[in-house]
Amino acid sequence: MAAKIDMAKFAKFCKETGFIFQSSEIYGGLNGFWDYGPLGVELKKNIKDAWWQDMVRNPPPGPDGQEIRMVGLDCSIIMNPAVWVASGHVGGFADPMVNCNKCRKLFRADKVWLIGFADNRTEAAKLLELSKGATESEVETLTPYIAQQVMVPKLVIAVEADSKEDAEREYELPKVLRKAFTNEPTKFVHALNTAPPTFKRACPACDLGILDEPRAFNLMFESHAGAIQSDENKVYLRPETAQGIFVNYRNVLNSTRLKLPFGIAQIGKAFRNEINPRNYIFRSREFEQMEIEFFCRPSESMKWYEYWRDLRKKWYSTLSIQSSNLVPREQGKEELAHYSIGTTDIEYMFPFSEEPQELEGVAHRGSYDLEAHAAKSGKHDDLSYFDEELWNNDSQTMSTRSFKEWLKSNPTAEQIAKYKFTPHVIEPSAGADRFALAVLCEAYHEDKIADAKGNLDERIVMRFHPRLAPFKAAIFPLVNKDGMPEKAMKLYRELKAHFNVFYDDKGAVGRRYRRQDEIGTPFCITIDGETMAKDIVTIRERDTIGPDGKPLQRSIPIGEVKNEIWKALTTS
Ligand code: GAP
Repeated sequence: MAAKIDMAKFAKFCKETGFIFQSSEIYGGLNGFWDYGPLGVELKKNIKDAWWQDMVRNPPPGPDGQEIRMVGLDCSIIMNPAVWVASGHVGGFADPMVNCNKCRKLFRADKVWLIGFADNRTEAAKLLELSKGATESEVETLTPYIAQQVMVPKLVIAVEADSKEDAEREYELPKVLRKAFTNEPTKFVHALNTAPPTFKRACPACDLGILDEPRAFNLMFESHAGAIQSDENKVYLRPETAQGIFVNYRNVLNSTRLKLPFGIAQIGKAFRNEINPRNYIFRSREFEQMEIEFFCRPSESMKWYEYWRDLRKKWYSTLSIQSSNLVPREQGKEELAHYSIGTTDIEYMFPFSEEPQELEGVAHRGSYDLEAHAAKSGKHDDLSYFDEELWNNDSQTMSTRSFKEWLKSNPTAEQIAKYKFTPHVIEPSAGADRFALAVLCEAYHEDKIADAKGNLDERIVMRFHPRLAPFKAAIFPLVNKDGMPEKAMKLYRELKAHFNVFYDDKGAVGRRYRRQDEIGTPFCITIDGETMAKDIVTIRERDTIGPDGKPLQRSIPIGEVKNEIWKALTTS
């Protein structure tokens, strides 16, 4: 697991250093919305650039060593609402919600866990009996605690958590007992007495109210295109970038003459009116996705599914995410989204959770989306694939070279599908913000170093992979005289044409090192007397430890600096 981090301290650090700010903070912020500061915007751009470079411009060879053909798109956020009807989002993109009848707070039904308390085994059995009015998942999660020593009367409470284990841990018995009996004893009694006879689900927020039956809550943000706010003008902010790719499938095929298999990639904003944004930027209402729709022949789809699943996990490791913190998890049948034949979630052990949480989903979407859009738009031809090469080859020995003519000879559906079919799609769908959070958590290190007087001082070092680091190098003149500032500025100007670099001439060099460690700069280059005499600079590598136990410092010719930085950016 990533080292445990005090998340409040971490968020404070991210704010103070300029990685992440609360959106519209001076007005109290807005739940689920975040801004990236001067360092955060560089980090996130580096993440998106690395993904685009490694997945779109230079993906590794395919499973049989073949070149992979990938192109990009940048679609509008607001599209014809029919897109979302066809994709199933208007009808089905909803979380089951429960509402408290007193405080009116909304909870995701699948995040409310029921914990029962009993004073002995017989009472525990009765509790389970009581759960008969509950839904199937609730019964499964109801946990009877047997508190013989404290003689607790039976009761059932609802708690909000991501999993049963979290619920149990979070609400371990003593805490619940304190809450229920020491602080507000009457609240629970009230909740139990006024609950419907079937099953009593006290509100986890106010403890006074009862949760109602789960209802669907659509997660799409709505707006209106045009002056009139009528239903005909209703539009949606896209909840995923994927559909923009599907509806452009034909445009891309026609404009590029791509042949199967090939991928279309897009990075862009997505919006979801999440019921319960939480865990800092992990679940936000506005976020960015990095999605690929990889189109292939149905017969080859499993091979490509495995290829993308393995490649995507590996990619995170090449960017310094420890593989022990990455957990690929094949979703169970009951978890699969309506479109999916199989999905692997690449999960990461975020330090705020006891269990790995989704970083990316790699889904086998079959032909669901193209077929859904074909059915809704009526454009069946546009959303299918004609294997021209195969037809040209096979038709040499047929009575006609024209596919249209051949169709008139009443071939079977199976025969037609050999040449004309709906491709299957593999979709690696990653969140740029979730990855940014994982990168920040993974890079974050607290340690203690002795100051000039030997006192131990706590400091934070951000150990970013050089590709993701906001600044690649910092340039320091050792002193602000003897021509050093001029020489350092010259180097800075040369380097900034290629990389994001920082110039710092303020304070002792040790202090300057610390400032750069804190914002994750991998290299510091000092212009000193040796540079003035022999054009040799000192390069300090943050993450290579020298024989003295401190970051390694080496002397290199000034002309080599650019190459050194390149090397670090191109080796994984
Ligand atoms: N097109 C498929 C799709 O959108 P998803 O699992 O709903 O699938 C893909 O989302 C990725 O988008 C997730 O793995 C996650 O990284 C990111 N994501 C989804 N909802 C998010 C949210 N509310 N906040 C931040 N990132 C989110």
